[in-house]
Amino acid sequence: MDNKIKARLIKSDKNNIWHPFTQMADWINNDPCAPLIIDKAKGSYLYDIDGKKYLDGVASLWVNLLGHRNPKIDKAIKKQINKGSHTTFLGLTHVPAIELAKKLISILPKNLKKIFYSDNGSTAVEVAIKMAYQYWQFKGEKRQFFFSLKNAYHGDTIGAVSVGGVDSFHSSFKSLLFKSYFAMSPYCYRCPYRKKEITFPLNAKNFKNHNAKVGCKGECIKQVEDIISKNHKTIAAAIIEPLNQAASGMIVMPKGYLKEYANLCKRYGVLLICDEVATGFGRTGKMFAVEHEDVKPDFACLSKGITGGYLPLAVTATTNEIYNAFLGKYEEFKTFFHGHSYTANPLACTAANAALDILKKDKILNKLQPKIKHLEKELTELSKHEKVGDIRHCGVMVGIEIVEDKRTGNPYDYKLKLGAKICTNMRKDSVIIRNLGDTLVLFLPLTITEKEISKIVSAVKEEISRLRLL
Ligand SMILES: Cc1ncc(COP(=O)(O)O)c(C=O)c1O
Repeated sequence: MDNKIKARLIKSDKNNIWHPFTQMADWINNDPCAPLIIDKAKGSYLYDIDGKKYLDGVASLWVNLLGHRNPKIDKAIKKQINKGSHTTFLGLTHVPAIELAKKLISILPKNLKKIFYSDNGSTAVEVAIKMAYQYWQFKGEKRQFFFSLKNAYHGDTIGAVSVGGVDSFHSSFKSLLFKSYFAMSPYCYRCPYRKKEITFPLNAKNFKNHNAKVGCKGECIKQVEDIISKNHKTIAAAIIEPLNQAASGMIVMPKGYLKEYANLCKRYGVLLICDEVATGFGRTGKMFAVEHEDVKPDFACLSKGITGGYLPLAVTATTNEIYNAFLGKYEEFKTFFHGHSYTANPLACTAANAALDILKKDKILNKLQPKIKHLEKELTELSKHEKVGDIRHCGVMVGIEIVEDKRTGNPYDYKLKLGAKICTNMRKDSVIIRNLGDTLVLFLPLTITEKEISKIVSAVKEEISRLRLL
């Protein structure tokens, strides 16, 4: 692109836009790379306005599922545009939403029978929280608190922040939030209860072996039991990102943890919300993360990959038991008073229908298994690097924690912003990834190839190795 036009675009961006999760002082003044302006996308790649090609190693913030400009999804959306792009879902319905609900119910855990639409991951969580809260009112029980985990991330709206446990994102809003109980995060690498001499990376094969291996007595799950057993009469629901606390650095739970968490909820009569916004639609290697441990939640929150990463759409799926509690006469005011202007947008539902058809017809999850094995192999190699403290890996979601000292796990001074620097430098290798602190995050579309996986991992290795020069 002509340099003058480019300069004008950059100036206009900096003058007019406030970007999410971005320190704008850095963006405006110090960012060593002028903002990268993306022009188009195809398959696993993004192209900037100069035509330079980049591998999209974070699936455009964890949404892209089947490649950019997937021909089948493109075609379906174009067809729907010719029919109409939006109608309200309040008091009306439409074919794409009806079809999608049926398809979702056929693939979700069998107890989830009702689909409530909204338009992003945070609202899917808000809906689950409000439904759980109101359900107990109808049951005549005063349950006003929620239970969650440290390092949990469920979105940025106030309800979702109230069950969020990432201090750097959430602590400023403390006095605005409703009360939630928090147990420690199952973050094995930084667990204060583990034996000091354990060497990492650690790949726990199951929770019991894991306990023996790291020398802890399962303090993380013990805390869950302590809090729930003491407070269950006031807890409306417990929420969890099944298998992987993604936004705090891909904190992968030891095998068995999720099942135990779900069992405790069941034992003490606390509703369970599984937030599959990040993990849903194959990212763990199965359609939903709960399938790995045969967990049947009372609510599943879905978004991100649901439309193949094309359009905003979210779902809160729940049971007949919850749904039936809201039935009543008009004057009883048992209606669920919640909805958004773009709830169940027909274009988004159409994209989701197409994405689900592709997942099924093209046997995407079968084809994904060797790719996950390949990724695992590449990561095992990378884990030997002296600056790699821990690699956490679940399906196509990966966190690579960079440390100053591999032996002690000592992190670098956060002010060095090494994670961010590595990601910026990787653009020179034509790869885009993002960091969460000093954890580098890979989040891959299911259609990625083994060759592309190797390219991303080798770019990571290359840039970490350059750390010595810093
Ligand atoms: C587990 C989880 N829940 C909820 C959200 C929020 O989704 P959204 O950004 O669409 O509001 C995210 C986003 O990363 C997430 O990872």
